[in-house]
Amino acid sequence: MNTDKTPTDEDLTDEALREKIAAELAAARRRTTLLTSAVDDEDLIRQHSPLMSPLVWDLAHIANQEELWLLREVGGRVPMHPEIDPLYDAFEHPRAQRPSLPLLDPVEARDYGHEVRGRVMDLLERTRFTGTRLAAGGFAFGMIAQHESQHDETMLATHQLRRGAPALSAPPPPPAPADAAALPAEVHVPGGSYTMGTTVEPWALDNERPAHAVHVPPFWLDTTPVTNSAYAEFIADGGYDDPRWWTPDGWRYRQSAGLTAPLFWRWEGEWVRESFGVTRPIAADEPVCHVSWYEADAYARWAGRRLPTEAEWEKAARHDPAAGRSRRYPWGDADPTPEVANLGQRHLSPAPAGAYPAGAAPCGARQLIGDVWEWTSSDFLPYPGFAAWPYREYSEVFFGPEYKVLRGGAFGVSPVVCRGTFRNWDYPVRRQIFAGFRTARSAPENA
Ligand code: AVJ
Ligand code: FE
Repeated sequence: MNTDKTPTDEDLTDEALREKIAAELAAARRRTTLLTSAVDDEDLIRQHSPLMSPLVWDLAHIANQEELWLLREVGGRVPMHPEIDPLYDAFEHPRAQRPSLPLLDPVEARDYGHEVRGRVMDLLERTRFTGTRLAAGGFAFGMIAQHESQHDETMLATHQLRRGAPALSAPPPPPAPADAAALPAEVHVPGGSYTMGTTVEPWALDNERPAHAVHVPPFWLDTTPVTNSAYAEFIADGGYDDPRWWTPDGWRYRQSAGLTAPLFWRWEGEWVRESFGVTRPIAADEPVCHVSWYEADAYARWAGRRLPTEAEWEKAARHDPAAGRSRRYPWGDADPTPEVANLGQRHLSPAPAGAYPAGAAPCGARQLIGDVWEWTSSDFLPYPGFAAWPYREYSEVFFGPEYKVLRGGAFGVSPVVCRGTFRNWDYPVRRQIFAGFRTARSAPENA
């Protein structure tokens, strides 16, 4: 099958590509600035959870990666402050140690970011997008825009873990679904081969490559992510107290961590949830968020179902049976807009299940992109033909059975990061990420 011929940026002129890069870098910086100016200096320096860096670390790390990849690797410049490089190398110091490092203070970190960005904009004016693989298609610039956006999501998770008065002003709520009651509970995805991953998407990261054919037997997939009310039924039915629904590892974790509900839920005669400093009753029709893989997996077993595999998820999201090829997104090849998906921190919650009919996939599933990350049953492994690029520490060092794959992005994820092929991963115990899930079941071969 040769179905990896989606429209790409190959056709953009250098000038149009420069404009696109400048817009993506600026969008990421606007979000970074908002997230790091919403709290005072003391809050920027503090560690709000051992799972997260102090926000001031993210701030200088973003600048350091931008200097490293754009100014040094693409531009051939000498390091600006080589002595600080080790402080901002994520592999030298685990997150828990970062607060005790001699980090740049907030003023120094902001100045560094500003200085680097000024020089990057000069470099961008002069860059021809040819010659090296890093420069081709503006890849290194796209990678850095994505990197900053990924840290914007991480910083949003830090905000959610932070205790105290709300720091982020409440944005408008996401749109309500128009026809949720009429939606079928599940959609059918016929069996057969499809193209997973991509070779042609110019800014796809190494773990999304290369495109390859995968045979997927027929299956049924939830039309929408599992909602808070459905999840509350699992809790009310004693789901957290019944080892039958949990894997042995999951049950051990449930016991040792004393899990009784998703992170941030509290029982006050009804379930309430704290979200960015504001406590409210859970919204019944919102996708459940802040559950671990173990909880998602247990819920699915309780429901008589299972988590979808990563290959199933991507087939539901991208395969267009009429055209016989994989799309860039569920709705087609056009970049995300506010009409099709809840991305980019425009809203600080997932939209109710059944929202975004214009973003539906050919199979009828909704909200595959945006709202909440979706746990899959799959381990994070390389595709056949994988080659680490441009650095092993982005993906390769994480491959293995200890990480599970998440797909589809969340309300906190920037559109520049959120392709139909994008792969995220985390430990099955993690709950601080904006993660929910949907369930699946296998269908008879010829149904
Ligand atoms: C792809 C989200 C797992 O945050 O650990 C940021 C992204 N890599 N800086 C992470 C990343 C380097 C990565 N995830
Ligand atoms: Fe990083």
